[in-house]
Amino acid sequence: MSTTFQLDTSTSRANPTPQPMRRLTVPKIRMRKQDGVTAEPLVMLTAYTARQAQLLDEHCDLLLVGDSLGQVIYGLPSTIPVTLEMMANHGAAVVRGSYHAVVVIDMPFGSYEASPQQAFESAAFLLKQTGAAAVKLEGGGAMAETVAFLGQRGIPVMGHVGLTPQAVNVLGGYAARGRSDSEAAKIVTDAKALDDAGTFAIVVEGVVEPIAIEVTQSVSCPTIGIGASAQCDGQVLVTEDMLGMFDRVPRFVKRYEDIAGIIGKTVATYAEEVRNRSFPGEEQTYQPKG
Ligand code: KIV
Repeated sequence: MSTTFQLDTSTSRANPTPQPMRRLTVPKIRMRKQDGVTAEPLVMLTAYTARQAQLLDEHCDLLLVGDSLGQVIYGLPSTIPVTLEMMANHGAAVVRGSYHAVVVIDMPFGSYEASPQQAFESAAFLLKQTGAAAVKLEGGGAMAETVAFLGQRGIPVMGHVGLTPQAVNVLGGYAARGRSDSEAAKIVTDAKALDDAGTFAIVVEGVVEPIAIEVTQSVSCPTIGIGASAQCDGQVLVTEDMLGMFDRVPRFVKRYEDIAGIIGKTVATYAEEVRNRSFPGEEQTYQPKG
């Protein structure tokens, strides 16, 4: 299989080119949790494009090319229709736009669940096409064999437990998980199974806080919370959510800016200037020399 891009993942190809420096590595991320303690929480945000990656990179330990791009970029109703090709194209853009953070790429629904072999082929395709350092997959104990299989073959895996959006049709929606004793116990068991199988980190999404804390205390690798707890070993949000690109703000999202409002106002000014012919002005037009 030929790769789409010439990649050098140890330095940046971002434009403008930043100071060359080495990327963080998966082992360095894993080692941030020592004997159950993470002195400095891990910072992760989603990224889907090269420019977005350039802007986020220096502030983040990890950039996640999330399959949430299905909804955020493509306007799809869920992550279910997202394909390996979509993930590969956006993953390659994010790697090209970053030089510091570890880039993790989501395995889309249907690309890994059938068998460890299927998962290896899909994950190898993603890493070859993008230059990302690791993959993320959803599910607990049922995925443990696959996590070990990939790890033994050179592919680091980030797990994802609790609310797993690819299972929306089984879960019946996106409500927080872990409210019943049996559900809570399963989330903890799932996380432990992934940890034992060798995940280097585990996303804990949409669970009641005591379960997020119990998971964090029960696994040796770092947990990365979203709608979970500040006691997790790190946090992740969908970048467009925290920037205020959407009107709907789920409870677990903190809207740090109102970028949608800024875009609305800016575009209204542009439209007015086009209509009253004040744009383009003298500074934006070319005149003959002499
Ligand atoms: O796809 C995604 O963006 C994710 C995060 C929400 C963890 O999986």
